[in-house]
Amino acid sequence: MNFAPPSSVPPVEASIQVRNLSYFFGRGDLRKQVLFDISLDLHPGQIVIMTGPSGSGKTTLLTLIGALRSATEGSLQVLGKELVGLGDRHLVEIRRNIGFIFQAHNLFESLTASQNVEMAVELTGNFRGKRQQAVDMLSHLGLAERADYKPAALSGGQKQRVAIARALVNQPQLILADEPTAALDKQSGRDVVTLMQHLAQERGCTILMVTHDNRILDVADRIINLVDGRLESDESPQQFVDSHAPKALDQKMFIM
Ligand SMILES: Nc1ncnc2c1ncn2[C@@H]1O[C@H](COP(=O)(O)OP(=O)(O)OP(=O)(O)O)[C@@H](O)[C@H]1O
Ligand SMILES: [Mg+2]
Repeated sequence: MNFAPPSSVPPVEASIQVRNLSYFFGRGDLRKQVLFDISLDLHPGQIVIMTGPSGSGKTTLLTLIGALRSATEGSLQVLGKELVGLGDRHLVEIRRNIGFIFQAHNLFESLTASQNVEMAVELTGNFRGKRQQAVDMLSHLGLAERADYKPAALSGGQKQRVAIARALVNQPQLILADEPTAALDKQSGRDVVTLMQHLAQERGCTILMVTHDNRILDVADRIINLVDGRLESDESPQQFVDSHAPKALDQKMFIM
């Protein structure tokens, strides 16, 4: 007897499977390639840090994986769905399963910290429990006392943590984070990555995080380095540190 799955439906085990992905901005004479033939797999429970010089394409790659822009060349499978060629309506569906943390925190200024987080909970249809869930997540991030403050009354680091609470409150299967700890002091940054580690370990959540913060490299299972739109390396944190001269690490990769 043959128990193998039908060959026409290959099982997709990776949360993210990128194959020969290229990306261009602009049209005609202004068309400029910013990503070149990227191939990459990320598995459930993995924390992968993406680093690389400014302008190397990190945010572009993150927004493609997050279904915030349309990929056109190559293959990009996210949570089992092929995104290349997918229309806007379907891309919106994919985004529901992804928690985004961007450096520009995009909080609603007229809403309190809690209400900002509650808006994310509402997307799941949970109206009754939303306040409790929001306050619980804010508490995890050390913001219990600030739940009813509006963004204008919060520091940069506190606003960033509200944005992180909003991204994590629905416990998404995939978290995409662009410099999530940049505005945070050492302890808050550590708290945030510890929370992410728990989500990865306990819920099998996959985390892809852009960072230049060498204080948090140790949480990564792998570090990928993007240079001029190309995947230059994909290594363990130890290999990465060994293969990049300490001086270069400090000066080029991890300006703090
Ligand atoms: N909307 C856009 N239109 C045209 N070019 C763009 C656009 N967004 C980014 N680019 C270009 O694409 C390249 C990659 O940009 P990207 O923002 O992905 O870099 P990055 O690695 O995230 O840099 P940083 O570390 O500074 O955030 C850059 O050359 C940038 O100028
Ligand atoms: Mg960027």
